[in-house]
Amino acid sequence: MIDQLGRPLRDLRVSVTDRCNFRCTYCMPREVYGRDFHFLPRPDLLSFEEISRLVRVFAAHGVRKVRLTGGEPLLRRDLPALVAQIGAIDEVEDIALTTNGVLLARHARALRDAGLRRVTVSLDSLDDAVFRAMSDADVPVARVVEGIDAALAAGLRPVKLNAVIRRGVNEAGVLDLARFARERGCVLRFIEFMDVGTTNGWRLEEVVPAAELVARIDAEMPLEPATPSYRGEVAGRHRYRDGGGEVGMIASVTQPFCADCTRARLSADGRLYTCLFAGEGHDLRGPLRAGASDTELSDLVGSIWGARRDRYSEARSELTAGLRRVEMSFIGG
Ligand code: GTP
Ligand code: 5AD
Ligand code: SF4
Ligand code: SF4
Repeated sequence: MIDQLGRPLRDLRVSVTDRCNFRCTYCMPREVYGRDFHFLPRPDLLSFEEISRLVRVFAAHGVRKVRLTGGEPLLRRDLPALVAQIGAIDEVEDIALTTNGVLLARHARALRDAGLRRVTVSLDSLDDAVFRAMSDADVPVARVVEGIDAALAAGLRPVKLNAVIRRGVNEAGVLDLARFARERGCVLRFIEFMDVGTTNGWRLEEVVPAAELVARIDAEMPLEPATPSYRGEVAGRHRYRDGGGEVGMIASVTQPFCADCTRARLSADGRLYTCLFAGEGHDLRGPLRAGASDTELSDLVGSIWGARRDRYSEARSELTAGLRRVEMSFIGG
């Protein structure tokens, strides 16, 4: 099954909660996500059984990789049980999790035991003051480092680290992050600050282009380009010439990768988003709870994907600036 631009459906990113224990300024600014903010009420969230059922439907359409996201997915109780349910779906070859790492030390072992193979931890700075300013939470960066080490100790491989770099905010810590990742054998990926949602005050001047980061790292620790691990990989790979691992660049602003985008996103309340920058999702929970059969759900997903034409990052322009867009914390990146 392919969309209007010839792209198959391969990856499904499942948000299990819209809540987070951080308030990263570029994602959930506290002025917006304050005490009065209305998160999804419990009954609106898909149950694990509902999620698994939908994943099965997506798997029949070609999904091979499932990533659990949030908000912060480890805030959802008993997440390992969901990992086990998804792991039992034959077609699913890869299950991953994106987390801010705060609760990872507590759950790494159980996640691994449930069948999770790898994890991606967001880490924007190793400098405690910079880290706290960016995450706007009363959590020391040491707690995230403990989470990373617990994941490694539990045998989760690879542990990937995602760092969003903002001009003048955390760019001074880029080499520290690179060294830290090399020491632990983690794959570090830098993400260009994106104009996701409408609340994070995005400005082009704050984007540090991936090419600049590659040059900066290369000057200290020489790099060479590496081929993608799979078609449509989001991160451009660069290998350390001394064999010390690799670093990735997710350059969705300066080098968009929509042409190969095989990702669908399912929000915690059961809406299907065909692009990270989509304004609206397609409701799957309604039909699911109204008793739709697997065939009916499958037809619905097929018709949504078949009509897909999204290529936001490539089309990014003044024209799109004022449009409604889903928030990153709602859809999990
Ligand atoms: P791997 O399976 O490990 O290659 O992971 P991944 O790179 O597919 O997923 P990950 O969650 O690590 O992606 C990192 C970040 O890249 C996301 O949080 C987003 O910020 C960004 N990203 C991922 N997919 C897309 C996409 O389809 N479009 C855009 N614009 N950004 C994306
Ligand atoms: N631009 C780029 N990356 C972002 N993330 C959240 N908001 C943005 C943004 N505006 C990243 C987080 C995390 C992943 C889920 O998405 O840092 O690594
Ligand atoms: Fe930060 Fe991720 Fe939480 Fe957004 S969802 S506030 S990026 S930790
Ligand atoms: Fe895919 Fe939309 Fe991201 Fe382009 S902007 S890569 S279509 S999610």
